Amino acid sequence: MERKKSKKIYEASCKVIPGGVNSPARAFLSMGIHPLIVTKGKGDTIWDEDGHTYIDYCGSWGALILGHAHPKVVKAAKKQIGYGSSFGISTKVEKEIAALIVDLIASIEKIRFVSSGTEATMSALRLARGYTGKNKIVKFSGNYHGHHDSLLVQAGSGLFHVNSQASSLGVPPEMVKDTIILPYNDVNALHEYIGNDVAAVIVEPIAGNMGVVPATNDFLKTLREVTEEKGAVLILDEVITGFRVGLGGAQTLYNITPDLTCFGKIIGAGFPTAAFGGKKEIMDCLAPLGGVYQAGTLSGNPVAMQAGLAALKEISAPNFYNELQAKTDKLLLPIENALKETKKGCLQKQGSMFTIFWGTDKITCKEDLKKIDEETFKRFFFHLLDQGIYIPPSQYEASFVSIAHTDENLEKTKTAVLDFLK
Ligand SMILES: Cc1ncc(COP(=O)(O)O)c(C=O)c1O
Repeated sequence: MERKKSKKIYEASCKVIPGGVNSPARAFLSMGIHPLIVTKGKGDTIWDEDGHTYIDYCGSWGALILGHAHPKVVKAAKKQIGYGSSFGISTKVEKEIAALIVDLIASIEKIRFVSSGTEATMSALRLARGYTGKNKIVKFSGNYHGHHDSLLVQAGSGLFHVNSQASSLGVPPEMVKDTIILPYNDVNALHEYIGNDVAAVIVEPIAGNMGVVPATNDFLKTLREVTEEKGAVLILDEVITGFRVGLGGAQTLYNITPDLTCFGKIIGAGFPTAAFGGKKEIMDCLAPLGGVYQAGTLSGNPVAMQAGLAALKEISAPNFYNELQAKTDKLLLPIENALKETKKGCLQKQGSMFTIFWGTDKITCKEDLKKIDEETFKRFFFHLLDQGIYIPPSQYEASFVSIAHTDENLEKTKTAVLDFLK
């Protein structure tokens, strides 16, 4: 499939944008080709500059559970733009979406909106430190929480292959000296390394940034017990899983009550919005009530809030997640069976998020990923791309099914995957 126009645009972009992209995972570096340059999306399909179409399983990295340009989201955003796109003054819709999330998620008593998942996790950590008066934080290897300094240690996603202590140049050692890294799904490590001096533990309850790797029940349950015992704030990073694995997120699925939760992606319906929320007692430590400062010119942006509210109302419909699961099963169950039979890899999933790992039968933590057959992933990626099917361009990412995926396109995708397995 030739993509001459996209290549030209990418080359021109490289002259004015570092690496030609505004976020490294878009660069397709590990695939060794120039990236897609997209013109539009509708439902489950995206178009590139060369006029090719692709069935999209990236969905803006999980944000688009309703698919591209969902009519209700478009209508809500358009209406607000007509009334003004930003005021830097409060609007009623902020209260409406906050109240809806408080209503939907039992652990959220108060919530504050920010503009990106990075900002949400950064703010939640500062809040936890301010609340506890302690400095140390714990994260898990292979989890990714955004690109702020103290969490850029052994991170997943685009940083998967970076193995130094800090995952990025420019992060001073003193910024990560208080960050303790533990292996994911290792219950013993929780008992051993979470002490009374830990302010917060942040975790992806279902990791999505080393491919989909769910936490075990035992791991999350023990994490809750240990953090409670040691007086550490438990932060669930549900930037991907929030409203993805069910209306109540991973915390409902695992029956865990965190102290704080971070959201992103789905709550903005494709607009730059994220949030952090949780116990009133902790949230009220934020300025202007308390001494933990956190602010943003575009925080609670009315266009993003209206779009997000429209999306959350849509996914709150009684049958939404059953329908989404039925679509996902239609695609994934035959693939899962074929992988078991051929023993060429395994499918890991929760709800409508999934990853096929090649060359292994199970992944439970970052260490396990050493067994992965990356060459097969690369061939798989191109096999799909050539047939107009787009999955994220890395073995260490999650793919997503949306409610907009049509039966026809799910069937086409399933057949393409099964053909590859043959
Ligand atoms: C679990 C998780 N947390 C935080 C982030 C950071 O969000 P953002 O890219 O909006 O800054 C991401 C991004 O993919 C994520 O997957």
